[in-house]
Amino acid sequence: MGDGYDAIGETFAEWREQGSGDPRRDWEDKLVSRLSDGARVLELGCGGGSPETTRLAQQFALTGVDISPRQVERARAAVPDAEFVCADFTELELPGSSFDAVASFYVFNHVPRELLAPLLANIHTWLVPGGWLLTAFGQSDNPGWTGDFLGAPTFFASYPPEINSRLVREAGFAIAEDEVVAWEGADTPECFQWVLAQT
Ligand SMILES: C[S@@+](CC[C@H](N)C(=O)[O-])C[C@H]1O[C@@H](n2cnc3c(N)ncnc32)[C@H](O)[C@@H]1O
Repeated sequence: MGDGYDAIGETFAEWREQGSGDPRRDWEDKLVSRLSDGARVLELGCGGGSPETTRLAQQFALTGVDISPRQVERARAAVPDAEFVCADFTELELPGSSFDAVASFYVFNHVPRELLAPLLANIHTWLVPGGWLLTAFGQSDNPGWTGDFLGAPTFFASYPPEINSRLVREAGFAIAEDEVVAWEGADTPECFQWVLAQT
């Protein structure tokens, strides 16, 4: 996964801006409105310094994690006020109750299905009581598939929405908002399940 985004990082950043109706800003607003200034926010799969990362870093103490060394390098240059860690977040060990929120934009559809439940359980431990999770899950029934994405081999996997929601609840979260949203991507229709949940 790191190699792929090392290669396509810049292409991805341009590609993601070309769609129309991407709801990521609206969902980021829902999270931001629930946090106090200076809150500790962890962004998983932050990429190379997206507008969402920039905005979160302006208001909060942001730590971004990405598996791609090149994307982390870009993020550090683009968002100097945040801290960035190059790591696989499915293997990350962090102290308990160390963040007020965890955010992730278009990343969990790259996580092998069997790792989603342990990842959600870890996120729950990293959050303070009352902490928030915002994420966009893939929503097709895809056991795992590697194919070309913007010129690099990329792994995708996802569960249908009812299973994603169940996994979130089973990890100990209360779901505040849960919606499947479709829009026109740059070259294909896009559809993700957005979930905002609280510990
Ligand atoms: C589709 S991009 C999204 C990037 C950014 N969140 C955005 O919306 O522009 C997915 C990102 O997740 C990262 N990623 C995927 N799996 C990861 C993992 N297990 N650990 C850390 N980063 C991961 C990739 O390197 C890539 O930068």
